[in-house]
Order: sequence, then C-alpha cells, then structure tokens
Amino acid sequence: MGSIAYISPAPLCCKLSQNQSYPHFSCSVSSYSLPLFPKLVSLSSTSASPSSSSFNSARRGLSRVCVVAMSTDLKKPTVLVTGAAGRTGQIVYDKLRERSDQFNGRGLVRTEESKKKIGGAENVFIGDIRDADSLIPAIQGSDALIILTSAVPRMKPGSNPAIEKPEFCFEDGAYPEQVDWIGQKNQIDAAKAAGVKQIVLVGSMGGTNPNHPLNSLGNGNILVWKRKAEQYLADSGVPYTIIRAGGLLDKSGRLRELIVGKDDELLQTETRSVPRADVAEVCIQALQFEEAKCKAFDLASKPEGSGVPTTDFRALFSQVVTGF
Ligand SMILES: NC(=O)c1ccc[n+]([C@@H]2O[C@H](COP(=O)([O-])OP(=O)(O)OC[C@H]3O[C@@H](n4cnc5c(N)ncnc54)[C@H](OP(=O)(O)O)[C@@H]3O)[C@@H](O)[C@H]2O)c1
Repeated sequence: MGSIAYISPAPLCCKLSQNQSYPHFSCSVSSYSLPLFPKLVSLSSTSASPSSSSFNSARRGLSRVCVVAMSTDLKKPTVLVTGAAGRTGQIVYDKLRERSDQFNGRGLVRTEESKKKIGGAENVFIGDIRDADSLIPAIQGSDALIILTSAVPRMKPGSNPAIEKPEFCFEDGAYPEQVDWIGQKNQIDAAKAAGVKQIVLVGSMGGTNPNHPLNSLGNGNILVWKRKAEQYLADSGVPYTIIRAGGLLDKSGRLRELIVGKDDELLQTETRSVPRADVAEVCIQALQFEEAKCKAFDLASKPEGSGVPTTDFRALFSQVVTGF
C-alpha cells in the first residue's frame, strides 16, 4: 500500500472562531485562520517600487499581515523542547537557537551533565518528566511544547550480540509506562495548565499493532504506552501535532522527499525510515502552519536521490486531513 495523498483543508478543530482574540496579538481575527507562529513577513519582500500603484495595492493587501508580522517580532514565541539532549531533541534545540529571530528556544534535560552536553545555556532547564512539579519552571511562559522524551531500552548485562540475539530491559522506574505514559501525561497537563498553545509530540509508527515486536522489547509495551499518551494529548483540547516517525536515521536532513501516511500503512511499503534531522525540521515547521494542527500522521522519507526534497511544508501537512 502506498502513502496517502489528501487534498482537503485542515480540520476545523484548531481554527480560530470569529472575533476570537489571536494569541500573542491585541488585534482580533475575524475571518481567516492563521498559524500560531507565522513566519515573519516584511514589506521589503515585494519587488514593486514605493511610488508605484502596484506597491500601494500590495501595501494595502499586506497591511494586516504586516501588523501580525510586527507584533510577532515584538513577542517571539517561546518554544520548549523536552529530551533536548536526546538524538532528535538536540537537533530541534539547535534549530531553535539558529532561528532566534523567530523563536525563543528552551530545552529541558534530565541532568546537569546533559545540560553541559548541549552548551549549558541558561535557557536549558533541568527536570524529570516523571516528577510533574519539576517541569513547571520550564513550561511556565512557553507558548509551544515539543515532546522528544522517550524510554530507552538498554541491552541486558551479560548479553553478547556477537554470539546471540541481544536481550533488552528498562531500568527500574524508567519503563515505558513511567516515561512514555506518565511522563508524557505530566508534560501535557503542565503545558495545558500553563496555557501552552500547541504541543508537538514525536511518537512512533507501529502503534496500531499491539503485537508489534517493539512491544515485547524488555516487556515494556512501549508502543502501547506511547499511543495512550498520544490519545491523551488528542483529547486534551490543546492544539496538537503528533508525528509518528518511521525508523530514525542519523543522516543529513533536507535531502529527501518526505512522505506522510496514516495508520501504519507505510509499514507495508519500502518507505519506512526518516532522518532524525528531518523529523526535527517537521517539528519546527509544524509550529508555523495551521495545516499541521490537530493532526496525527506517520512520517517517512524516500531514499536520498529518489524523489524531490521536501521544501513546502504547508503542502505536506495539507495531505493529512483526518485528526487522530
Ligand atoms: N529509534 C527509532 O528508530 C525510532 C523510530 C520511531 C520513533 N522513535 C521515537 O522518536 C523519538 C526520538 O527518538 P531519539 O532516538 O531521538 O530519542 P533519544 O535519543 O532516545 O532521546 C530520548 C530522550 O528522553 C530523555 N528522557 C528519558 N527519560 C526521561 C525523564 N524521566 N525525564 C526527562 N527526560 C527523559 C532522555 O534523557 P537523557 O539524555 O537524560 O537520557 C533523552 O534525551 C522517541 O520518542 C522515539 O521513541 C524512534
């Protein structure tokens, strides 16, 4: 089965209703739906000269957009990424820092050591997602949350993969139930209480199959607990984007055509993996397009060299029309 291409508009659940006050701005939005964190737009982007009539009509047309752009500049959204020292979380954290003209980036890590690993800046908070109170300082004042925490299976001591199939286990207290369910639920609850306007959650493909081999890894039922947290997020009322990634690759980003799908259909195809760098980019792009909101989708990529590298993320998100 191939990937699914959908062309209808985004679900209505995240659209701003008439006269609802637009987050971050004092003006009200009457008839159109906008992303919470639009890309900056400036008048200099038009090629018309200031005296021409096309300039004047462009200026009239852009005036409302420019009010938004200027206001956005005054208050850049603060975006917290958790698991910021993890393999994908670190890429997201770096991208937020690189785009400091658009975002105030924050990170949450578990230890002082992890904080040092990603540069030790003061916008990196230390907390444990299993301890709800420890999340409050990082979440307070954040406009968006990107969840990139995960339980991590370890090879059982004494396992020798050179001679036998390795066995895996989870540390006591760090099973998927505690990290991927309770830990993600704590993050969602804290974000909702703090008035966070969008949560992006990176999950995993395979969640439709309770007998997926990953569930037997360390007896953790990891995909079951991840899926439970996804459902909790979808039911939370906070606009969400759930990215169910295929097998993660440590390869360069922006070189592949990205594919979205639903309900693990991509697992029946050859297109089942995606670079961590591309997942990180999709997390950030999801903050910028209304079309990404209130949706869950599978994400994979064509092999490098086949297909056209994805640059139009609005079009990518628009292919998904169903919510959870
Ligand atoms: N591996 C794959 O092929 C694959 C496929 C599909 C989806 N995914 C999913 O994609 C996501 C990103 O994967 P990844 O491999 O980039 O992640 P990763 O490197 O395993 O990072 C996981 C992060 O979670 C943090 N964490 C774990 N327990 C925590 C706790 N109690 N409190 C705070 N932080 C905690 C870890 O912190 P420390 O640094 O302190 O340990 C680590 O930074 C995960 O949800 C993963 O399940 C993975």
